[in-house]
Amino acid sequence: NWTTGNILEEQVQRIREQIGDARVICGLSGGVDSAVAAALVQRAVGDQLTCVFVDHGLLREGEAEQVERDFVAATGVRLHVAEEQARFLDALAGVSDPEDKRKIIGREFIRAFEEAERAIMKEAEAEGEPIRFLVQGTLYPDVVESGGGEGAANIKSHHNVGGLPEDLRFELVEPLRTLFKDEVRAVGAQLGLPAEIVGRQPFPGPGLGIRIVGEVTRDRLELLRRADAIARAELTAAGLDNDVWQMPVVLLADVRSVGVQGDGRTYGHPIVLRPVSSEDAMTADWSRLPYDLLARISNRITNEVDGVNRVVLDVTSKPPGTIEWE
Ligand code: XMP
Repeated sequence: NWTTGNILEEQVQRIREQIGDARVICGLSGGVDSAVAAALVQRAVGDQLTCVFVDHGLLREGEAEQVERDFVAATGVRLHVAEEQARFLDALAGVSDPEDKRKIIGREFIRAFEEAERAIMKEAEAEGEPIRFLVQGTLYPDVVESGGGEGAANIKSHHNVGGLPEDLRFELVEPLRTLFKDEVRAVGAQLGLPAEIVGRQPFPGPGLGIRIVGEVTRDRLELLRRADAIARAELTAAGLDNDVWQMPVVLLADVRSVGVQGDGRTYGHPIVLRPVSSEDAMTADWSRLPYDLLARISNRITNEVDGVNRVVLDVTSKPPGTIEWE
């Protein structure tokens, strides 16, 4: 549409003026904001941009592939992938406290990003073009208040790609600074980004690491990823994606209950569904999803995911509950 086209051209022009011939890097999280910011900068300065994707192994099913394959195919962006799954699992071993998990994930993320950054810097310097700019997907609401989900910062230590430490070596490029979320999505669509990325609901920077209540292990991540994929697929099939703000799916890894499945007794873990409606994530209400949808999700998860014998629904508003369990 006319307005989106304008925003796009105007931003591309501005980015060109700011960056000139210099090199620039951008971290991709898998989320909408960093993807649209990167795609805009790519449109403006092409291969002067290198994107960095730290794969911490805490994303949901299919999300790493959407960045590494679909986003790259849609934009032609130059991408550096840091495969860091083992690093994060090692750092999280034996840790159950939610704040400790958040801090460890945030810390390792910054370290991994800086290592990737150094490798790219070396290449760029060898080519005689040092990197001078860093792209951040800051939105307008982040600028005015420290708004949106960020408001939770006092309750939970927040982590996202926009929260990288201010690196004095770089000048910031913030092409989304004047935009609201719906405008960002419109620009993303205009740039031809995959619908799965443009339409993505909010997802916390620490990812599935804070949706496992208890220690994070490879097997538990695998289990939660399966359960989450089923819940999301059924929500989409029911045509209700736009009726919920987000639907965290949580594994209670430290809880077991008795069940009966197939030929006998089981002693498995519960999965919690946490569908919420919200305007800005500061307050939220639990979504009244149709019972038949809940029944389908529950049946499929208990049938298809080994180790889960119970699915429960979180019927708490925010406050008093937060949206995420950790
Ligand atoms: P809570 O759980 O505090 O979450 O009610 C409010 C919103 O923020 C998201 N969230 C995060 N987003 N980094 C993020 O980028 C984080 O560390 C983080 N923690 C929570 C949460 O998914 C919800 O949308």
